[in-house]
Parts: sequence; C-alpha cells; structure tokens
Amino acid sequence: MGKEYNIAVIPGDGVGPEIVTEALKVLETIAPMASITFRWTHYPFGAEHYLKTKEILPPGIIHELGGFDAILLGAIGDPRVKPGVLEGGMLLNLRFGLDQYINLRPVKLYPNVPTPLRDKGPGDINFYVIRENTEDFYIGIGDRVRGAAGSARLPVDRSNYRAAFNVAFESDVAGDYAYQIGLISRAGAERVIRYGFQLAQRKGLDRVTSVDKANVLSDIYGLWREVFQDVSSEYQSISYEFNYVDAMTMWLVKNPEQFQVVITPNMFGDIITDLGAMIQGGLGLAPGGNINPNGVSMFEPIHGSAPKYKGQGIINPLATILSGQLLLEDLGEDTWADLLERAVVSVLEEGIVRTRDLGGSASTSEMGNAVVNALRRLGEAQG
Ligand code: IPM
Ligand code: MG
Repeated sequence: MGKEYNIAVIPGDGVGPEIVTEALKVLETIAPMASITFRWTHYPFGAEHYLKTKEILPPGIIHELGGFDAILLGAIGDPRVKPGVLEGGMLLNLRFGLDQYINLRPVKLYPNVPTPLRDKGPGDINFYVIRENTEDFYIGIGDRVRGAAGSARLPVDRSNYRAAFNVAFESDVAGDYAYQIGLISRAGAERVIRYGFQLAQRKGLDRVTSVDKANVLSDIYGLWREVFQDVSSEYQSISYEFNYVDAMTMWLVKNPEQFQVVITPNMFGDIITDLGAMIQGGLGLAPGGNINPNGVSMFEPIHGSAPKYKGQGIINPLATILSGQLLLEDLGEDTWADLLERAVVSVLEEGIVRTRDLGGSASTSEMGNAVVNALRRLGEAQG
C-alpha cells in the first residue's frame, strides 16, 4: 500500500503556472516509481484572483492550508497590482500564518552551468542558506509620519539615541519621516539557528556561519549572536564563525568554498540569497523552501513572476523542479528527492536541452520533459 500526500498548489502569476506545470509533471513521474499518490488541490490565488474578487486570500485559508502535507507555489507579482500588495498580503502572510520560520535556500552550482565567478566550479559553490523567515525587519511594524514643523514625534524616548538622528525631528521643516522596526526574539532566533546546526549534522557538515551586523545594529543582532553562541555550545563537533553581512557579500564572491551552512536573519538572508542565486548560475536554478518542521511547509523557486516572459514558454523550470526535490525531502522521501536531483544533474551534464538562461533555446516544457526522461532512465537503472 503506497503513501498518499495531499499537496496544495498555488501556481500564482506571470510565469508561475508554466513552471509549476513542469514541476508537477516531474513529481507525477516519480509517484508510481515511489508508490506514492499525490492529491493536488489547486488554488487560484494571485493577481488575477485579486483583481477579480478584491480578495488576496480568503478567510480561513491558513487553517485550510495547514491541513495539507505541503504546498507548492509558483510565483506572485503582477504589474497591474501595486508592489507589496501581493508580496505582503499573500506570500508573507502565508509564511507568517503557517509559521514557516525557516527559509531553506541551497546554493549549489551544478556541472555544466555557467557561473559569473571565474575560476569557480561545482566543487566550490555548494552550501545551504538558512534564512530566518518570520522576524527581523519583516514583522511589519513601522509608519510614515507627516506633521507641521516641530510636531513630528517618534514614538520612543529620543534621549537614548544619537544626536545626529535628532536633527530630523527638531528642524523647522515640517516633520516627514518613516521608521521600521526590526525585532528578534530569543525563541525565534534559537529555533532557526538550531535547525541550521541540525541540518549541518544531518548532512555531515562541520562548519556553520552566522550573518549579522552586530557592529552597528548591536541590540537586534547582539541578541542574535548571543543566541547563536548559546546554541553552538550544544554542537561541539561543529565549528562556527560570525560574519558581518557586508563582508559576507564579499566572501560569497571571493571564496564561496568556505561556506557549508549559512544561518542568517531574515532581511540579510533575502539579500544574500539573490547573490547566491547568481553564483549558482542564475535565478532559473535557485529553489527554496519555507519550512515549519512541525507544520506545513511551502516550496517555491526564489525567483519572481517575471511578467514580461509570461506565456512565452522560455523560462527555466529547474528552480521549481528543484523546489520539488526539497518538498520530497520534507515529506521524508529522501531516496526520491535524490533521484530527482540526479535527473536534473544528468540533464545539465548532457547539455543538450538548455533553456535560454543557460545559453540554449529549449522551451520550459522541453526542459521539464528532459528531466522526466532522465528520471525514467535513472529509475529503470535503479530497478
Ligand atoms: C523572496 C522575496 C520576498 C521576500 C518578497 C517577494 C516578499 O524577495 O522570497 O526572497 O522578501 O522574502
Ligand atoms: Mg528575495
């Protein structure tokens, strides 16, 4: 008797539906080999749905999605909708609502994939980024304040803050300022940092890197460091280092081989994973998972909806297909996750089917089909 998984599918906007189609094709190829039955439930959320119904997500949806085994998401964002509306109203609400506090983004350069880093090859670029996914500057506390001269007031006691900072509020010009609050909790930092150390252990890695800016934002990232240090003491066989985020961007370009597991607060993680995607050969190859180890996790490519390529069938679906690998791993189907990855590697190694981003002219579905064929080949060889 095979296993059954209920998966929610949110294709979303732009190229989302095209790439999700390919990922589903690939997962459906694995299903019979693995004696798995996938039950897909499609949801129409995204720009089209929002423009038609004025609703981003229906009430009760978090609870409903919480009943699935996993979620597969394409991409969201559309030029007809103001930036931030869907990003915050949908993507961030899902991540926060389902308490997906880990954003797992492997940065792995596969064979035969061009990287802009001269002299670096697949052996040099292979690490996990674990981005905290529910705190930091993403918590949504902030405001823009306008007022008559001298009337604008920060909702905090300014006496604690630097003099230069006060100039903005005491000048004669009408007050006009904005603030955004970043927050890190001990519990919130601890759970994601611990996940990072555990991942290192599970994958047989022995080095973990923390990213912060504790030299300037010393309250918020001071706490982050303190927690990191505390958690690290439980993992004596894993060494660790602290890196400031600015230096981190430099090392990622200069010496990416020094990283195995990188654990980072939310916003720095957002930034360095785009950099990570570039060094692994582009956004077309960068998968991601929003993970709640005790709940339902959501898998998505880290790229956006690329509206200008919508419907052209030229986008590389590998980022979404590889998100399917992370999804299988999350379900505990490691053997099949590995097989999926090996199929992708064999297509890349062969180098015959290459999408435009890889210098070829294959279509989105030709790439999906190539992975399907490779899976069948490898599956047969495996018996
Ligand atoms: C990402 C994206 C999102 C983020 C946006 C779309 C809200 O950039 O997944 O990296 O900032 O987390
Ligand atoms: Mg981002």
